[in-house]
Amino acid sequence: MIWIFLGAPGAGKGTQAERLQRDFGFVQVSTGELLREAMRAGTELGNRVQGYITRGELVPDDLVAGVLIERLTWGETGNGVILDGFPRTVRQAEILEQILAKHCWQLCAVLYLDVPEEVVLLRLGGRRNCPQCGANYHVVALPPKVAGRCDRCGGELVVRPDDTPEAIRKRLEVFHQQTEPLVAFYSGKRLLERIDASGEVDEVYQAVKSVVSRRWRQCLAEG
Ligand code: AP5
Repeated sequence: MIWIFLGAPGAGKGTQAERLQRDFGFVQVSTGELLREAMRAGTELGNRVQGYITRGELVPDDLVAGVLIERLTWGETGNGVILDGFPRTVRQAEILEQILAKHCWQLCAVLYLDVPEEVVLLRLGGRRNCPQCGANYHVVALPPKVAGRCDRCGGELVVRPDDTPEAIRKRLEVFHQQTEPLVAFYSGKRLLERIDASGEVDEVYQAVKSVVSRRWRQCLAEG
């Protein structure tokens, strides 16, 4: 079973996906995190994608699709996979349809985290990231227990390289131009669930959980 998290940068996709992973036994697959891992490891892929990510642009469709296919083919899939940050273009959504058909995987729902732009700016402005394990914090809304240190692995928290004002502006522009059309794409397939994600983390999670529970039952019944 496959779930998709769709939403503007900073909408809370990673934060909510992490909670679903914990409670439902799903596995979160973040294409952004896979690409950042490659950058940290200094692999050929990492070197190829670094410029796109730092500028806030999308990595070319075929390159990111290749990364996703490899992860889905060889990695753990648990009780289902949450795609956090894929697809981001209609072309990627079409590639995903081919992958799902080939493996007989079922797309249960697309959770669209809807937040106003001013909220996104506050969230990204206060985000701190652990480069060692990928965990995310927020200086006000989700602070770590010890300032500047990751609760999970003790790593030093940093500001993500694409959380600069210029890159955030670019990412929002890219979202509106290239990713937002997916809202209509998945609405047309009756897969879209729009969730108001402007509230506090736990409040949003209650809404996410209720949608996932309902869609999960539906998905199981449809086989
Ligand atoms: P990616 O890592 O996917 O970044 P993004 O989509 O811009 O999303 P973010 O990680 O910034 O935000 P989020 O929605 O996960 O929010 P979070 O939970 O962290 O992609 C990065 C780059 O990789 C792209 O720009 C592109 O270059 C490339 N890339 C990745 N996938 C690609 C693809 N498919 N195709 C092409 N290129 C691709 O929350 C944000 C902050 O807010 C955190 O500090 C959090 O603690 C806080 N927060 C969360 N929820 C709440 C809440 N309810 N209340 C208060 N604070 C909250």
